Amino acid sequence: MKYLIGIDIGTSATKTVLFDEKCNVIASASQEYPLYQPHNGWAEQEPEDWYNAVVYTLKAVVDKSRVNSEDILGIGLSGQMHGLVMLDENNEVIRPSIIWCDQRTAKECNDITELVGADRLIEITANPALTGFTASKILWVRNNEPENYAKCRHILLPKDYIRFKLTGEYATDVSDASGMQLLDVPNRCWSDEILEKLGIDKAYLGRLYESPEITGYITKEIAELTGLSCKTAVVAGAGDNAAAAIGTGIVSDGKAFTTIGTSGVVYAHTSQPSIDKKGRVHTFCCAVPGCWHVMGVTQAAGLSLKWFKDNFCQDYIERAEKLGCDVYSLINKDIDDIPTGSGRLIYLPYLMGERTPHLDADCRGVFFGLSGIHTKAHLLRAVMEGVSFSLTDCKDILTEMGADINEMMVCGGGGNSPVWRQMLADMYNCNVKTIDSKEGPALGVAILAGVGTGLYESVESACASFIHEKAISVPNRENNSKYNDIHKLYKRLYTSLKEDYKALAELEL
Ligand code: XUL
Repeated sequence: MKYLIGIDIGTSATKTVLFDEKCNVIASASQEYPLYQPHNGWAEQEPEDWYNAVVYTLKAVVDKSRVNSEDILGIGLSGQMHGLVMLDENNEVIRPSIIWCDQRTAKECNDITELVGADRLIEITANPALTGFTASKILWVRNNEPENYAKCRHILLPKDYIRFKLTGEYATDVSDASGMQLLDVPNRCWSDEILEKLGIDKAYLGRLYESPEITGYITKEIAELTGLSCKTAVVAGAGDNAAAAIGTGIVSDGKAFTTIGTSGVVYAHTSQPSIDKKGRVHTFCCAVPGCWHVMGVTQAAGLSLKWFKDNFCQDYIERAEKLGCDVYSLINKDIDDIPTGSGRLIYLPYLMGERTPHLDADCRGVFFGLSGIHTKAHLLRAVMEGVSFSLTDCKDILTEMGADINEMMVCGGGGNSPVWRQMLADMYNCNVKTIDSKEGPALGVAILAGVGTGLYESVESACASFIHEKAISVPNRENNSKYNDIHKLYKRLYTSLKEDYKALAELEL
């Protein structure tokens, strides 16, 4: 029996899973680490924390599984996208990583748009300048910490820093590199034009690979620390969403998935680089060699529900503790009793501004239509419906761009909720399905490792063999018609409030 490992370097934790050659989970381990927010809108993490978590979890799965380490053919790396890691000439980390949800770079985004030109930027990088992406973070360090920038010799993404530590190689894969805003996304290569216009030295960037390609082998030092063998290959891997796509079998046209995690993502596979000229959704290379994906992002999806639960649901939290059950299962049960439309209550989920479709950092959350009849359960259902309307906005743009979505897989924490899945099926008006594995990105990159090391013939054939559908939610016509009407009003609310959001942001308080 041969084995594969998938490592997912997430924002809250690193999860490492060891699979056998049939993709059964043999052992898994995870370790959390902090997120630092030194100022409002800033978000940083310590690359050393990721590294320690990776070494700890690798050793844990090797020890627990007791497999012969020489039988572990390959490791795939997945992780949070966009984060900036800078190394000096001695390969030391220069400053904490500025990660994906950091919002400090509005000025640098304007600079990028001016230097490259708005249309040309979208033509090459397939996306408008965004605060979350890596290029603006690089310029921020150059503008604000010139002494740090002067020391910089290598620029890596979070999972690629881990690759460097595991193998000694400076490399990345095309899916994760797409989120740096330095890649020529249609042509799958670094863009000399962008690098030149932004004044970034190409030598700082890692070598580019397609996701299943082998980028290096485990070093002696790491083998000693973890029990792995130096014969184990590390493949290029993928950004977390592209990796989750493989892990849920979204590898051909017409297939799409929705993740409800902290943020929400609606992702569709495309065999052509389809670009939204208005920049409302991201177009990135995907982990299937030679293919792309389009993806809409809801900033505060699971975050909206968690925010409401943490601040207003102490009663649910206490009841769940007493009963020894998951608080969300109690919430789900109550929400199921509230009718479609939450008694004419609409929630706009813009707690963290919004990416798709508004690209608006100033908009904020709203409950519209509050009345004396509403209970906490109405508000909870409205939160889930509001997030689902935002995900429907994402899906609608993908459809408008020609993605022929005939069914939707759903994953992430929110995907575990049958009520939420039904809501999505009713709004999307298509079947919504789950798969029998919960490993998402870790499974996705383990499959890539299997392809890279020759265990599997192709990404598509491995997905066909090992990804199995589980539950299915079928749309209800009557609910779909009600949701269509509410969605129209939901969309009008943003338009009506757009200028007021700006005024709110400008208030001197
Ligand atoms: C994608 C994005 C997030 C991060 C963190 O554009 O910002 O999904 O990858 O998970």
